[in-house]
Amino acid sequence: MVKIKLTIPEIEEMEYYDFMSYLGVPFFHIGGPGSTEELARSCHIKKDSIVLMVGCGSGFSACHLAKKIGCFVVGLDVASLPVENARKRAIEENVEELTEFITGDAYNIPFKEASFDVVITEFVSQFLDKNRAFSEFIRVLKAGGFAGINEMYRDDAMEPRPKAKIDEAEIIFAEVTGFSFKMHTPDEWHRFFKHAGFTDIRINKHRPFLKMKDSIASVKAMGGFVKIAGITLRMLRYMILSKIIRRRFSQLDKGKRILFNNRSTRKHVGYILGIARKPF
Ligand SMILES: C[S@@+](CC[C@H](N)C(=O)[O-])C[C@H]1O[C@@H](n2cnc3c(N)ncnc32)[C@H](O)[C@@H]1O
Repeated sequence: MVKIKLTIPEIEEMEYYDFMSYLGVPFFHIGGPGSTEELARSCHIKKDSIVLMVGCGSGFSACHLAKKIGCFVVGLDVASLPVENARKRAIEENVEELTEFITGDAYNIPFKEASFDVVITEFVSQFLDKNRAFSEFIRVLKAGGFAGINEMYRDDAMEPRPKAKIDEAEIIFAEVTGFSFKMHTPDEWHRFFKHAGFTDIRINKHRPFLKMKDSIASVKAMGGFVKIAGITLRMLRYMILSKIIRRRFSQLDKGKRILFNNRSTRKHVGYILGIARKPF
């Protein structure tokens, strides 16, 4: 990853996803490479497909698909450090010729109409204004092309107490990441696709916990236990050195505990894999 050494004040100034990329965290979506492969299958990605990954982060999934399938993947992210790291990853993984990484905004995708066979987001659309973003996705898709998303969901009906807790977690994630963050119900995800003009919409709910084989694949994808330990140690070091970073991580931890460690809330959340098609 990008080998630069920053001072604590510089790190404190960083946007959240720049900082995570600086630490070397390769991806954030639940489901790991297994869910990315499932999205690729559902979107019929083949060797000759041209794929756009919006909010590609450090390029883990983009490189994974390029390597596994041989398709051409363009990764777009609004944060610049993850994009630099994605370019570096593509060289390291020998998929430089099959990938292109650019800094840009999901609301103003710098490609003309009908440029892509598939558009994918993984833990990105939940941060976006769906109406604006999905109308951009459908614009840049070819007729008959697929959009595939992996995003968090929350149930519609629940008791007031877990509802208030999940609302609190959403506020925490928005504050920590600096992006507005909203988990939607599966029906709402369906409606966002429909409103943008997509057809053949399928929304499949998944629990937020990984099966053993996906956990192993995720650990491997992150570079193994030694690499994960290295990232954790760097994180701890910055937490010791900076009150601002300590606060950031303890807030994040609070949000995660609300969603995943609390018996009353965790049954009401998970992630959806959503597939939809641009009409011919
Ligand atoms: C949770 S991370 C997910 C990264 C990657 N897709 C993954 O699964 O690891 C969300 C990413 O969305 C990017 N993002 C947020 N708003 C964006 C926008 N308007 N346009 C492009 N990227 C955006 C962030 O910079 C960040 O890299």
